[in-house]
Amino acid sequence: IKKITTHQLHAMKARSEKISMLTAYDYSMAKLVDAAGIDVILVGDSASNVMAGHETTLPITLDQMIYHATSVVKAVERALVVVDIPFGSYQGNSSEALRSAIRIMKESGGHAVKMEGGAEIKESIVRILSAGIPVMGHLGLTPQSIYKFGTYSVRAKEEEEAEKLIADAKLLEECGCFSIVLEKIPAKLAKRVAEEVSIPIIGIGAGPDVDGQVLVLHDLLGITTEFKPRFLRHYAKLDTVITDAISQYVSDVKEVNFPNQDEMY
Ligand code: KIV
Ligand code: NA
Repeated sequence: IKKITTHQLHAMKARSEKISMLTAYDYSMAKLVDAAGIDVILVGDSASNVMAGHETTLPITLDQMIYHATSVVKAVERALVVVDIPFGSYQGNSSEALRSAIRIMKESGGHAVKMEGGAEIKESIVRILSAGIPVMGHLGLTPQSIYKFGTYSVRAKEEEEAEKLIADAKLLEECGCFSIVLEKIPAKLAKRVAEEVSIPIIGIGAGPDVDGQVLVLHDLLGITTEFKPRFLRHYAKLDTVITDAISQYVSDVKEVNFPNQDEMY
């Protein structure tokens, strides 16, 4: 199997082939996601919500991200594995940022890191890139800053924030980031960014005119059903598939329908 590289993602944008990206946090799911032909697997800090049940992405630790990433990397044969650097392990201190990125690369075997923000974290990005670690940017709704924003609503609807986002995207490209995630911004703005930078722009809630799409795996599969923003499409309703199977098992156990003659020694 030919492994996906950051260079191939760049070539995909150049030939207008859309890039598919999904999150995964564990070995078993990552194996299925990779086998299904995804281009990029993100070990997102959304693990904080989806795996650990926290309300925000802020509590997840670097050690916990490395644990998730290690499990994912073991399962993946083809996809590029990108790992989120979690809140508190890169902001405002480029030495700490570099140390965190190196720990992720060394201990998990991931292929790249992702960081939220533009000009504010430029020094950290440059330092990590200088160490030979590919960096994916993340602009727009950056969930690690949720307490600054106050809501999870659409970002960059106003001129000033839109102009800063465009400037940040260009800055990330100049620094050498291989790609940028744009989260929950107007489709028109995302289209403009995708046109004005040459690195692949991956959207989530950013419309169709970008170079690829990313979703949280458990949202797409319909496992997490309380979360249903407009941009999310449920490709399955696994919540009922799973609970139906388990309640069937429960009643079979109660009624001694399981195990049967063929299911014992
Ligand atoms: O953590 C995550 O899942 C993400 C994606 C939504 C882009 O950062
Ligand atoms: Na994230």
